[in-house]
Amino acid sequence: HAADGKRNGDLYRDYVDDRNAKSQDTLYCTSNGVPYPHPYEVQRVGENGPLLLQDFHLIDLISHFDRERIPERVVHAKGSGAHGYFKCTDNLGDLCFAEVFKQGKTCPITIRFSTVGGESGSHDCARDPRGFAVKFRTEEGNWDLVFNNTPVFFLRDPAKFPHFIHTQKRDPATHLGSGDDSTMFWDYLSQNPESIHQVMILMGDRGIPDGYRFMHGYGGHTMKLVNKEGEWVYAQFHMKSKQGIKFLTEQEAATKSPDHSQKDLYYAIENGDYPGWDFCVQTMTPKEAEELWEKQKINVFDLTHIWPQKQFPLRKFGEFYLNENAKNYFAEIEQITFNPAHMIPGIEPSADPVLQSRLFSYPDTHRHRVGANYQQLPVNAPRVPYRMANFQRDGQMAFYNQGPRPGYLSSIEPISFRHRSVDLNKVHNNFIGDAITFLSEIRPEDFNAPRTLWERVFDDGARERFIGNVSGHMSTCRDKEIIKRQIAIFREVSEDLASRLEKATGVKGYDGISGLRFNGTHNGMAKDSSLRAAN
Ligand code: HEM
Repeated sequence: HAADGKRNGDLYRDYVDDRNAKSQDTLYCTSNGVPYPHPYEVQRVGENGPLLLQDFHLIDLISHFDRERIPERVVHAKGSGAHGYFKCTDNLGDLCFAEVFKQGKTCPITIRFSTVGGESGSHDCARDPRGFAVKFRTEEGNWDLVFNNTPVFFLRDPAKFPHFIHTQKRDPATHLGSGDDSTMFWDYLSQNPESIHQVMILMGDRGIPDGYRFMHGYGGHTMKLVNKEGEWVYAQFHMKSKQGIKFLTEQEAATKSPDHSQKDLYYAIENGDYPGWDFCVQTMTPKEAEELWEKQKINVFDLTHIWPQKQFPLRKFGEFYLNENAKNYFAEIEQITFNPAHMIPGIEPSADPVLQSRLFSYPDTHRHRVGANYQQLPVNAPRVPYRMANFQRDGQMAFYNQGPRPGYLSSIEPISFRHRSVDLNKVHNNFIGDAITFLSEIRPEDFNAPRTLWERVFDDGARERFIGNVSGHMSTCRDKEIIKRQIAIFREVSEDLASRLEKATGVKGYDGISGLRFNGTHNGMAKDSSLRAAN
């Protein structure tokens, strides 16, 4: 325990609180917390001699400086962000059972806007789509929308994405950016005509928004919303700027500061002029989606197409505002990680191949860009009204390592599970249902090969040694209940095996596994199996 009575493990919260520290309350220290009298005091031999290796203060300073940069985002590297809140204005419960869609619900949010192709110091007024990513910190976990300011995209085949992006990066040989040489860009587009709708938007007026406040946000992808009856519809989210749309011409853009959008957003919020967006959704039944394909050849899994708003009108259900600038850009905006796979119960991905690939790509890049424990950083950590538990342990910078609780699904220190109120088998009956049946159900056939091993492969000596090995190993097992359960499993293999083990351990096992409860697994779901266990 520390001198003030706090447990040492709790002290890190003080670091998290430094966001609000005033400079006059602080004391200059080395990274291990030792006060240091002067930041420019180097230790050297004599007046003009070389420096000393023992000068920890200097080495501490410079070696940390050497490591200041993390990889910039491979796309969307230049961005701006702020914090705010979402409010549900109109109940969406008929479509979706997510708690946050109940009228009156609010939650904190953080948004990051960005350009796409440029590097982290590039110009804010580039002709480029704009990223529009929102993290909703709901009571059911974080929900991220990783949107753009255009309703369509350049491609519908995810394998084209790295090719397309490389056409906007520097030329491998000349190292010139696409601003000086547009050959690669047009080479790609002229070979991939499905990009044309997005190209037209990009080259039109909306290609250079006049700051991030004056643009809409679009998911582009089709999602699924599920209600509490388990019925689902396809959905597309839209965010409509309350400020309206403003854009810059090519000539106007050339006169602006490279940080035009950053300045505009930061000072609007600083001056209390909080930008806001209406949050709307378009929906479509699976039957309507089939008809849309048959009659209009619009495939809902193709994000190069829009859903016509006349046929599928926008329905407003909420709004959100930005009312707080980051106090530390790196901690709160650069290190934020948005992931399209972060969905809350009631929202599901569709089969859109580009969306499906993005579900993998973002957390993959986050582990590389920020590190394996990126979800523990304050800006990324969920703020949920329950104590989160899982079995993700250790790794670099494991701040929140879940205490002394065992790192496996233990029967001695069980954790709790919240069952979904809706059976997702109805929504994804082609895969989840089969996986649960196939992978988790215990069937009589599971014991056939072990029985052969015991009865036919082992000879008398092997059986004797086997009993000795198992009972010897179990002698250090602290919980008799576990031994009883394991003997029940051996009994499904062979009565002879189980009763010999009972003698050797001195523990009477259960009769069999039917009726046993297994912590957190689906064992025993087989309806027609004699081994069916209650769960
Ligand atoms: C950022 C991949 C398509 C919107 C990123 C990042 C990657 C990526 C690796 C960097 C993330 C980070 O470092 O945190 C892909 C792939 C795509 C794809 C593989 C297609 C196969 C799209 C589409 C949209 C989009 C269709 C919009 C509808 C964004 C946004 C960001 C981003 C807004 C910036 C997020 C932030 O501010 O942190 N993308 N992307 N991307 N992407 Fe995509």
